[in-house]
Amino acid sequence: MEKIAYVNGSFVPLSEAKVSVLDRGFLFADGIYEVAAVLDGKLIDNASHLARLERSVGEIRLELPETIARIQEIQKELVARNELVNGMVYLEVTRGADTGRDFAFPKGVRPTLVMFTSEKDIVGAPSAKTGINVITVPDIRWERRDIKSVALLAQVLAKQAAAEAGAGEAWMIQDGKVTEGGSSSAFILTQDDVIVTRQNGSEILPGCTRKAVVALAEERQLRVEERAFSIEEALAAKEAFITSASVFVQAVVAIDGKKVGNGKPGPMADRLREIYVEFAKATAV
Ligand code: PDD
Repeated sequence: MEKIAYVNGSFVPLSEAKVSVLDRGFLFADGIYEVAAVLDGKLIDNASHLARLERSVGEIRLELPETIARIQEIQKELVARNELVNGMVYLEVTRGADTGRDFAFPKGVRPTLVMFTSEKDIVGAPSAKTGINVITVPDIRWERRDIKSVALLAQVLAKQAAAEAGAGEAWMIQDGKVTEGGSSSAFILTQDDVIVTRQNGSEILPGCTRKAVVALAEERQLRVEERAFSIEEALAAKEAFITSASVFVQAVVAIDGKKVGNGKPGPMADRLREIYVEFAKATAV
Protein backbone atom coordinates (compact mmCIF):
# COMPACT_ATOMS: atom_id res chain seq x y z
CA MET A 1 0.00 0.00 0.00
CA GLU A 2 1.41 3.38 -0.93
CA LYS A 3 1.71 5.70 2.03
CA ILE A 4 -0.45 8.79 2.24
CA ALA A 5 0.85 12.26 3.05
CA TYR A 6 -0.98 15.45 3.94
CA VAL A 7 -0.23 18.60 1.95
CA ASN A 8 -2.10 21.86 2.49
CA GLY A 9 -5.55 20.45 3.02
CA SER A 10 -5.33 17.25 0.96
CA PHE A 11 -4.43 13.66 1.66
CA VAL A 12 -2.38 12.43 -1.31
CA PRO A 13 -0.15 9.46 -2.18
CA LEU A 14 3.34 10.17 -0.82
CA SER A 15 4.86 10.08 -4.33
CA GLU A 16 2.51 12.90 -5.35
CA ALA A 17 3.03 14.99 -2.21
CA LYS A 18 4.82 18.09 -3.47
CA VAL A 19 5.46 21.73 -2.59
CA SER A 20 6.76 24.57 -4.75
CA VAL A 21 10.48 25.21 -5.37
CA LEU A 22 9.63 28.70 -4.09
CA ASP A 23 8.55 27.30 -0.75
CA ARG A 24 10.42 29.19 1.96
CA GLY A 25 11.11 25.97 3.79
CA PHE A 26 13.13 24.88 0.76
CA LEU A 27 14.74 28.28 0.03
CA PHE A 28 15.46 29.60 3.54
CA ALA A 29 14.71 26.76 5.99
CA ASP A 30 12.00 29.22 7.07
CA GLY A 31 9.90 26.63 8.85
CA ILE A 32 9.25 24.62 11.98
CA TYR A 33 8.78 20.89 12.43
CA GLU A 34 7.64 18.38 15.01
CA VAL A 35 7.98 14.62 15.34
CA ALA A 36 5.49 12.73 17.52
CA ALA A 37 5.75 9.02 18.21
CA VAL A 38 2.92 6.58 17.53
CA LEU A 39 2.41 3.46 19.67
CA ASP A 40 -0.40 1.02 18.99
CA GLY A 41 -1.89 3.52 16.53
CA LYS A 42 -1.99 6.37 19.07
CA LEU A 43 -0.06 9.63 19.36
CA ILE A 44 2.42 9.88 22.24
CA ASP A 45 2.78 13.01 24.38
CA ASN A 46 1.23 14.94 21.50
CA ALA A 47 -0.08 17.86 23.53
CA SER A 48 3.51 18.59 24.53
CA HIS A 49 4.68 18.46 20.89
CA LEU A 50 1.85 20.73 19.75
CA ALA A 51 2.54 23.18 22.59
CA ARG A 52 6.17 23.34 21.45
CA LEU A 53 4.99 23.80 17.85
CA GLU A 54 2.92 26.80 18.92
CA ARG A 55 5.86 28.25 20.81
CA SER A 56 8.30 27.69 17.92
CA VAL A 57 6.04 29.30 15.31
CA GLY A 58 5.42 32.20 17.70
CA GLU A 59 9.16 32.78 18.09
CA ILE A 60 9.55 33.18 14.30
CA ARG A 61 6.23 35.05 13.87
CA LEU A 62 4.71 32.39 11.66
CA GLU A 63 0.99 31.83 11.93
CA LEU A 64 -0.26 28.26 11.83
CA PRO A 65 -2.65 27.70 8.90
CA GLU A 66 -4.83 25.42 11.06
CA THR A 67 -5.80 25.35 14.72
CA ILE A 68 -3.91 23.06 17.08
CA ALA A 69 -7.07 20.97 17.49
CA ARG A 70 -7.37 20.59 13.70
CA ILE A 71 -3.66 19.71 13.41
CA GLN A 72 -4.16 16.86 15.87
CA GLU A 73 -7.19 15.68 13.87
CA ILE A 74 -5.08 15.64 10.70
CA GLN A 75 -2.30 13.74 12.49
CA LYS A 76 -4.84 11.15 13.63
CA GLU A 77 -6.44 10.86 10.24
CA LEU A 78 -3.02 10.33 8.66
CA VAL A 79 -2.19 7.60 11.18
CA ALA A 80 -5.52 5.93 10.38
CA ARG A 81 -5.19 6.26 6.60
CA ASN A 82 -1.69 4.76 6.74
CA GLU A 83 -2.80 2.06 9.18
CA LEU A 84 0.23 3.07 11.22
CA VAL A 85 0.70 0.97 14.33
CA ASN A 86 4.17 1.98 15.56
CA GLY A 87 6.27 4.84 14.25
CA MET A 88 6.19 8.58 13.95
CA VAL A 89 4.20 11.42 12.46
CA TYR A 90 6.39 14.17 10.98
CA LEU A 91 4.83 17.58 10.52
CA GLU A 92 6.28 20.72 9.04
CA VAL A 93 4.94 24.21 8.64
CA THR A 94 6.74 26.81 6.54
CA ARG A 95 6.15 30.46 5.68
CA GLY A 96 4.76 29.29 2.35
CA ALA A 97 5.67 29.92 -1.28
CA ASP A 98 5.89 33.49 -2.55
CA THR A 99 6.28 34.49 -6.22
CA GLY A 100 10.03 35.02 -5.86
CA ARG A 101 12.89 34.87 -3.38
CA ASP A 102 12.56 37.82 -1.04
CA PHE A 103 14.14 37.35 2.37
CA ALA A 104 11.58 39.46 4.21
CA PHE A 105 8.24 37.85 5.08
CA PRO A 106 5.84 37.65 2.12
CA LYS A 107 2.43 39.28 2.47
CA GLY A 108 -0.79 37.36 2.00
CA VAL A 109 0.92 34.00 1.54
CA ARG A 110 -0.63 30.99 3.23
CA PRO A 111 1.85 28.92 5.24
CA THR A 112 2.58 25.42 3.95
CA LEU A 113 1.57 22.51 6.19
CA VAL A 114 2.75 19.02 5.36
CA MET A 115 2.73 15.74 7.27
CA PHE A 116 3.84 12.19 6.61
CA THR A 117 4.32 9.07 8.70
CA SER A 118 7.11 6.54 9.08
CA GLU A 119 7.14 3.11 10.62
CA LYS A 120 9.42 2.26 13.53
CA ASP A 121 9.18 -0.25 16.33
CA ILE A 122 10.45 2.18 18.96
CA VAL A 123 9.72 -0.09 21.94
CA GLY A 124 11.22 -3.21 20.33
CA ALA A 125 14.22 -1.55 18.64
CA PRO A 126 17.37 -3.75 19.04
CA SER A 127 19.41 -0.73 20.19
CA ALA A 128 17.15 -0.51 23.23
CA LYS A 129 18.81 -3.72 24.48
CA THR A 130 22.37 -3.10 23.26
CA GLY A 131 22.66 0.66 23.81
CA ILE A 132 24.41 2.96 21.35
CA ASN A 133 27.81 4.56 20.96
CA VAL A 134 28.00 8.31 20.58
CA ILE A 135 30.71 10.52 19.16
CA THR A 136 31.36 14.13 20.10
CA VAL A 137 31.42 17.05 17.68
CA PRO A 138 31.64 20.82 18.18
CA ASP A 139 28.21 22.45 18.40
CA ILE A 140 28.27 24.78 15.40
CA ARG A 141 24.54 25.65 15.42
CA TRP A 142 22.90 29.07 15.67
CA GLU A 143 21.97 30.67 18.98
CA ARG A 144 18.22 29.86 19.01
CA ARG A 145 18.25 26.08 19.35
CA ASP A 146 15.12 26.29 21.49
CA ILE A 147 13.20 26.84 18.23
CA LYS A 148 12.49 23.57 16.42
CA SER A 149 13.56 24.96 13.07
CA VAL A 150 13.99 22.84 9.94
CA ALA A 151 17.51 24.31 9.54
CA LEU A 152 19.25 21.07 10.50
CA LEU A 153 22.47 21.16 8.47
CA ALA A 154 24.72 21.12 11.55
CA GLN A 155 22.84 18.04 12.82
CA VAL A 156 22.97 16.39 9.39
CA LEU A 157 26.77 16.73 9.40
CA ALA A 158 27.04 15.64 13.04
CA LYS A 159 24.86 12.57 12.52
CA GLN A 160 26.65 11.66 9.29
CA ALA A 161 29.97 11.78 11.18
CA ALA A 162 28.35 9.52 13.81
CA ALA A 163 27.09 7.10 11.16
CA GLU A 164 30.55 6.93 9.55
CA ALA A 165 32.03 6.15 12.97
CA GLY A 166 29.47 3.40 13.58
CA ALA A 167 27.80 5.47 16.30
CA GLY A 168 24.09 6.04 16.83
CA GLU A 169 24.21 9.70 17.84
CA ALA A 170 26.53 12.71 18.04
CA TRP A 171 26.77 14.73 21.24
CA MET A 172 27.44 18.37 20.49
CA ILE A 173 29.94 20.25 22.65
CA GLN A 174 30.07 23.95 23.45
CA ASP A 175 32.53 25.54 25.91
CA GLY A 176 33.58 22.09 27.10
CA LYS A 177 30.02 20.98 27.95
CA VAL A 178 27.50 18.79 26.17
CA THR A 179 24.57 20.74 24.79
CA GLU A 180 22.50 17.82 23.41
CA GLY A 181 22.45 15.09 20.80
CA GLY A 182 21.94 15.75 17.10
CA SER A 183 18.28 14.77 17.48
CA SER A 184 17.98 13.92 21.19
CA SER A 185 18.46 15.23 24.72
CA ALA A 186 21.55 14.04 26.64
CA PHE A 187 21.58 12.64 30.19
CA ILE A 188 24.02 11.06 32.63
CA LEU A 189 23.60 9.28 35.97
CA THR A 190 26.37 10.30 38.36
CA GLN A 191 28.15 7.90 40.74
CA ASP A 192 25.94 9.22 43.55
CA ASP A 193 22.77 8.50 41.55
CA VAL A 194 21.86 11.98 40.38
CA ILE A 195 20.23 12.19 36.95
CA VAL A 196 21.82 15.16 35.17
CA THR A 197 20.58 16.84 32.01
CA ARG A 198 21.29 20.33 30.72
CA GLN A 199 18.87 23.05 31.79
CA ASN A 200 16.54 24.41 29.11
CA GLY A 201 17.54 27.67 27.48
CA SER A 202 18.43 28.92 24.02
CA GLU A 203 21.37 26.45 23.80
CA ILE A 204 19.11 23.38 23.47
CA LEU A 205 15.75 22.25 22.21
CA PRO A 206 13.35 21.77 25.14
CA GLY A 207 12.79 18.07 24.52
CA CYS A 208 9.26 16.79 25.14
CA THR A 209 10.59 13.38 26.15
CA ARG A 210 13.19 15.04 28.37
CA LYS A 211 10.44 17.02 30.10
CA ALA A 212 8.31 13.91 30.69
CA VAL A 213 11.26 11.81 31.89
CA VAL A 214 12.40 14.52 34.34
CA ALA A 215 8.85 14.79 35.74
CA LEU A 216 8.42 11.01 35.96
CA ALA A 217 11.80 10.64 37.71
CA GLU A 218 10.98 13.40 40.20
CA GLU A 219 7.58 11.85 40.95
CA ARG A 220 9.48 8.72 41.95
CA GLN A 221 11.77 10.71 44.29
CA LEU A 222 14.77 10.17 41.99
CA ARG A 223 17.26 13.02 42.21
CA VAL A 224 17.46 15.20 39.10
CA GLU A 225 19.80 18.13 38.47
CA GLU A 226 19.31 20.32 35.42
CA ARG A 227 22.79 21.60 34.57
CA ALA A 228 25.44 21.24 31.91
CA PHE A 229 27.96 18.36 32.13
CA SER A 230 31.27 17.64 30.40
CA ILE A 231 32.40 14.53 28.53
CA GLU A 232 34.88 13.83 31.36
CA GLU A 233 31.96 13.77 33.78
CA ALA A 234 29.97 11.55 31.43
CA LEU A 235 32.87 9.09 31.16
CA ALA A 236 33.15 9.01 34.96
CA ALA A 237 29.37 8.53 35.32
CA LYS A 238 27.51 5.31 36.10
CA GLU A 239 25.31 5.62 33.04
CA ALA A 240 24.51 7.83 30.11
CA PHE A 241 21.39 7.96 27.95
CA ILE A 242 19.44 10.01 25.45
CA THR A 243 15.75 10.79 25.08
CA SER A 244 13.63 11.72 22.06
CA ALA A 245 10.28 11.01 20.45
CA SER A 246 12.02 8.61 18.08
CA VAL A 247 13.88 6.49 20.68
CA PHE A 248 12.10 7.29 24.00
CA VAL A 249 14.94 6.49 26.45
CA GLN A 250 18.04 4.96 24.91
CA ALA A 251 21.19 3.92 26.81
CA VAL A 252 24.57 5.27 25.67
CA VAL A 253 27.31 2.70 26.30
CA ALA A 254 30.37 4.44 24.85
CA ILE A 255 31.48 7.98 24.03
CA ASP A 256 34.21 8.46 21.41
CA GLY A 257 35.11 4.78 21.78
CA LYS A 258 35.44 4.91 25.59
CA LYS A 259 33.07 2.87 27.74
CA VAL A 260 30.49 4.51 29.97
CA GLY A 261 30.13 2.46 33.18
CA ASN A 262 30.57 -1.21 32.32
CA GLY A 263 29.79 -0.59 28.64
CA LYS A 264 26.28 -2.01 28.91
CA PRO A 265 22.87 -0.34 29.31
CA GLY A 266 22.46 0.42 33.00
CA PRO A 267 19.51 -0.18 35.33
CA MET A 268 18.49 3.49 35.49
CA ALA A 269 18.20 3.84 31.71
CA ASP A 270 16.23 0.58 31.60
CA ARG A 271 13.97 1.72 34.42
CA LEU A 272 13.31 5.16 32.97
CA ARG A 273 12.59 3.56 29.62
CA GLU A 274 10.00 1.27 31.21
CA ILE A 275 8.47 4.14 33.16
CA TYR A 276 8.32 6.30 30.03
CA VAL A 277 6.70 3.58 27.91
CA GLU A 278 4.11 3.04 30.64
CA PHE A 279 3.39 6.80 30.76
CA ALA A 280 3.29 6.95 26.93
CA LYS A 281 0.72 4.16 26.68
CA ALA A 282 -1.38 5.53 29.52
CA THR A 283 -1.58 9.04 28.02
CA ALA A 284 -1.69 8.24 24.28
CA VAL A 285 -4.45 9.86 22.21
N1 PDD B 1 14.42 15.36 17.31
N2 PDD B 1 17.22 17.84 20.71
C1 PDD B 1 17.19 17.94 19.37
C2 PDD B 1 18.20 18.79 18.70
C3 PDD B 1 16.20 17.25 18.65
O1 PDD B 1 16.15 17.37 17.31
C4 PDD B 1 15.26 16.44 19.33
C5 PDD B 1 14.17 15.69 18.62
C6 PDD B 1 15.36 16.37 20.73
C7 PDD B 1 14.39 15.54 21.53
O2 PDD B 1 13.13 16.17 21.58
P1 PDD B 1 11.79 15.31 21.78
O3 PDD B 1 11.99 14.52 23.02
O4 PDD B 1 10.75 16.33 21.91
O5 PDD B 1 11.66 14.44 20.56
C8 PDD B 1 16.34 17.08 21.38
C9 PDD B 1 13.41 14.71 16.50
C10 PDD B 1 12.97 13.40 17.05
C11 PDD B 1 13.94 14.61 15.07
O6 PDD B 1 14.54 15.58 14.65
O7 PDD B 1 13.73 13.61 14.41
